Amino acid sequence: MNITFRQLKIFEAVARHLSFTRASQELHLTQPAVSMQIKQLEHSIGLPLFEQLGKKVFLTDAGREFRRYASAITTQLDELDQVVDEMKGLKRGRLTIAVASTANYFVPHLLATYCKRHGDVTVSIDVTNREQLLKGLVENRADLVIMGQPPGEMDLVAESFMENPLVVIAPPDHPLAGERRIPLDRLREETFLVREQGSGTRSAMERYFAANHLSLSTPMEMSSNEAIKQGVEAGLGLGLVSVHTLEMELALQRLVILDVVKFPIMRYWFIVYRTGKRLSIVAQNFREFVLNEASQILQLPAA
Ligand code: PGA
Repeated sequence: MNITFRQLKIFEAVARHLSFTRASQELHLTQPAVSMQIKQLEHSIGLPLFEQLGKKVFLTDAGREFRRYASAITTQLDELDQVVDEMKGLKRGRLTIAVASTANYFVPHLLATYCKRHGDVTVSIDVTNREQLLKGLVENRADLVIMGQPPGEMDLVAESFMENPLVVIAPPDHPLAGERRIPLDRLREETFLVREQGSGTRSAMERYFAANHLSLSTPMEMSSNEAIKQGVEAGLGLGLVSVHTLEMELALQRLVILDVVKFPIMRYWFIVYRTGKRLSIVAQNFREFVLNEASQILQLPAA
């Protein structure tokens, strides 16, 4: 059957009014245009849908049967129209974001505000380290990515929205804990707990230490910010993490930030997607929300 949506709409109007004239007025068409579409429709299904007795129009048996389906289909089409409108107005939609493990300390707070405003947006988050995020960007796995500055050679749109200070942490009873303006060189003597290879925090730290001609003797590698904080609390060594990870430990005075000269290392958070990617309406809206509101919504612990 070769039926068009337009023919269905026209049929539905004629069947409702049982009049070609009234249907054509409702649809802003000429009457011959309406008759022509109905003829074509009858031709496609191979049965008459209407019969005219005198001036009156009646549905045939086939017409009545056809009407049941036609109205179900046109109702569904109207519903689809509404859904599309709602999606444009953002009442519903799906958003997939991938975030650096460190960013996961603040992204849920952002999402809480966002989802309160847009209740029907379903969000899924993939939390992973920088290296995996970059792979995910190449493979187009998420709508948007939140991470530290991506490498310049990749074809990406990357917009910064908030500071990401990296600091040196110690347990409160560490000998350096109360000291002011600790020289960078003094860190040489300390054991450092560092993030795994592939972490953005780790590579920023390595770049910074190399630029300042400081090599760490035996860094101890840990695969998450949580593991580093636990290790530092337990007295295994000093750690280098983003301030974003420290809210609870600072409030409970389980860790302190050391006052090291030339610290914090100032990084920035970026919202990133591939150049040329067609962002969904929800993704565009979330991007704007992050760029315009993230830094106001999130309170950074003092570095
Ligand atoms: P990380 O991410 O959790 O991989 O260290 C932070 C970043 O990209 O700067």
